[in-house]
Amino acid sequence: MYGSDRAGDDAELTAFRKTEKKYKLYYENSKSTKKKKQPKQVDLSEVLDFKSISESFNQNGELPPGVVHVNCGFDRPIFGLENRPGFYFIPGSLTLDEQCTWIRESLTNFPQPPNRTNHNVIYGPISNLFVAAKEGKVFVEEERSDNGLDSEPSASVGNGDSHRWKFYEEDIARARGKTCKTVPASVLLRKLRWSTLGLQFDWSNRNYAVSLPHNKIPNALCRLAKRMAEPAMPIGEEFRPEAAIVNYFGSGDTLGGHLDDMEADWSKPIVSMSFGCKAIFLLGGKSRQDEPLAMFLRSGDVLLMAGEARECFHGVPRIFTDEENAEITPLELRFSDEDDRCFLDYIRTSRININIRQ
Ligand code: OGA
Ligand code: MN
Repeated sequence: MYGSDRAGDDAELTAFRKTEKKYKLYYENSKSTKKKKQPKQVDLSEVLDFKSISESFNQNGELPPGVVHVNCGFDRPIFGLENRPGFYFIPGSLTLDEQCTWIRESLTNFPQPPNRTNHNVIYGPISNLFVAAKEGKVFVEEERSDNGLDSEPSASVGNGDSHRWKFYEEDIARARGKTCKTVPASVLLRKLRWSTLGLQFDWSNRNYAVSLPHNKIPNALCRLAKRMAEPAMPIGEEFRPEAAIVNYFGSGDTLGGHLDDMEADWSKPIVSMSFGCKAIFLLGGKSRQDEPLAMFLRSGDVLLMAGEARECFHGVPRIFTDEENAEITPLELRFSDEDDRCFLDYIRTSRININIRQ
């Protein structure tokens, strides 16, 4: 599903790959090792900014060439692209309260077993990762007991062998670390890249693993997705959320150009919500050779991809974690309570995307 990061001569790169490289985070070569690495400047003048498009549309009804206003009785302006039918952009459609709720859920409840995350293949299911990271705990691999009797099946699913990992206080972990593998919970949280809700997507076989145990998508998230999907649904039909993928991005993380082609019915939209740091989203065409369009995605923005737009390559080559570009001050203020310190620390340098499918 996700494009390979194959490096090569620019001449053999696809148009999509070239644009990804243009916006990706690179650092300046600096001779001194003492200086903090500086990100390379990128030219953002061609990136569509639906926040400012929305502001000038509200003021004087003007739109840039190629952008259309979608009339559908929604309580906020919705925009589309002339040459990408089925693509909808709803700037700032989630309130700050909604953003905070889904950020909390994405970090605490969504990655809980039986939902799967990218960590499953290595560690098996991990419970309470966020709390463990907050408490400074360390994940320790238990020494194997080879008597074969003491096998708790649930502890070893995922990696298929008898390695078990458990969280310990730092000092205990340090002692155990002499003989066992250890990894701080904060490192695992930083390396959390995805979790799946509802029907579990099996990334190794690129399909929905209907037999895997799963929790239903929470009702509140279903209701929200239904409301957001409406502009892209045929009149009288309701969106039925069945699966969701939560993507977590840290500085330098990217989502390579891909198609979401595993769902049976492409006429149903994908509802994609953004939280945290601002990002660049690329919307290409049906071929990787088509020049993609770049646009900013901010916390609270919602994208819908239905119809023809579902057949278009897309990806996220960049997130902005610096204060000026991240644009998360209102969110930071919401997480200013001491109890929310851990959410604040996380979201300051991260982006979360909830991607809901039928
Ligand atoms: C996806 C996806 C886009 C985003 O998860 O398939 O396209 O904005 N995500 O992170
Ligand atoms: Mn996608």
